[in-house]
Amino acid sequence: MKILVLNGVNLNMFGKRDPSHYGQATLSDIEGLLQVLANELDVELECFQSNIEGHLCEKIHHAHDENIDGVMINAGAWTHYSYAIRDALAILKCPIVEIHMSNVHARESFRHVSVFSSIVVGQICGFGVESYLLGLRATVQSIRSKT
Ligand code: DQA
Repeated sequence: MKILVLNGVNLNMFGKRDPSHYGQATLSDIEGLLQVLANELDVELECFQSNIEGHLCEKIHHAHDENIDGVMINAGAWTHYSYAIRDALAILKCPIVEIHMSNVHARESFRHVSVFSSIVVGQICGFGVESYLLGLRATVQSIRSKT
């Protein structure tokens, strides 16, 4: 079972960005923790981050072509307005789980909207790094309950 972990715009700056929302961990710390959990759960993980919207779309197209089993995505600010990423995700047939470090619903109103919400299995937000670890468990669970 292979899961793709996608991180979008500005998320390479975790560790340097507003610690009250995003804590101190870097993206590479988070990916390391995810890898440890993936080993425990016996799943293969691929992690990808980009600040370029089209590159994220192309990675999703590639995931479709290689029949990926599940996708976890924190698209950062793109979550709130990128119909291009939403349409790319909608091509996939596998479970998709949306992740946010911060509780987006307790922040500015533009963050309350996710253009992905109707095509994801669910959203996990507000638990910091733990959002990613819960997200991986949720993705694996969704794949296993489908098969
Ligand atoms: C975020 C929340 C988004 O609103 C914001 O634009 C981000 C990070 C999060 O992980 O909490 O860049 O996705």
